[in-house]
Amino acid sequence: MEIVLIAAQSLDGFITRHDTPGAGFTSAEDKAWFPGVLREFDASILGGVTYRAERSLFLTNRKPGRRRVVLTRQPEAFAEDAMAGILEFTAESPAALVQRLAAAGHRRCALLGGGEIHRLFLAAGLVDQLWITVEPRLFGSGTPLVGGRVDIALTWLSTQSLGASTQLLRYAVRR
Ligand SMILES: NC(=O)c1ccc[n+]([C@@H]2O[C@H](COP(=O)([O-])OP(=O)(O)OC[C@H]3O[C@@H](n4cnc5c(N)ncnc54)[C@H](OP(=O)(O)O)[C@@H]3O)[C@@H](O)[C@H]2O)c1
Repeated sequence: MEIVLIAAQSLDGFITRHDTPGAGFTSAEDKAWFPGVLREFDASILGGVTYRAERSLFLTNRKPGRRRVVLTRQPEAFAEDAMAGILEFTAESPAALVQRLAAAGHRRCALLGGGEIHRLFLAAGLVDQLWITVEPRLFGSGTPLVGGRVDIALTWLSTQSLGASTQLLRYAVRR
């Protein structure tokens, strides 16, 4: 199963604006591009903090064919939100989760943050590509794209202009 990390960041590498949760700082162009590109994936994975930041959106988008799995150390706390095969909560290791999704027939999985989950999957060698929208903003503080120390070499694949000042960069993780 291919795993693509998809995120939008400021030029200085933050995926939130200071302490404000969510990705409200992104451009109209990225907001239009993001939901469309998710249709290329049959599964997605995100962290508990990202889920809580956009919970109402995830609840209204509980649709068959779009399996979403939230990594949390307390899956039982989300029992009311869960729908088997559609919105799931787990404390599995990243490797065990990826193995389970692949065994269930999933081919492409979007890794949807946040920074802590990015670090976990990058450190485990589970990410194949990164698709990063770079917004023309500088924040100086916020949630970093990768929430902890890693050292990952990348190969540039492409640059696409989403708007006059918003660039989408695609990289492959070098094995
Ligand atoms: N701009 C963007 O593209 C973008 C994308 C995604 C997210 N964001 C933003 O980034 C922020 C969240 O990032 P974050 O780094 O603070 O948090 P995060 O990566 O979304 O989630 C961290 C959480 O994941 C769970 N977790 C971490 N390690 C785990 C493990 N080994 N096993 C099981 N569960 C584990 C824990 O959830 P529990 O606390 O539930 O135990 C932990 O608190 C939010 O504000 C979100 O809106 C922005």
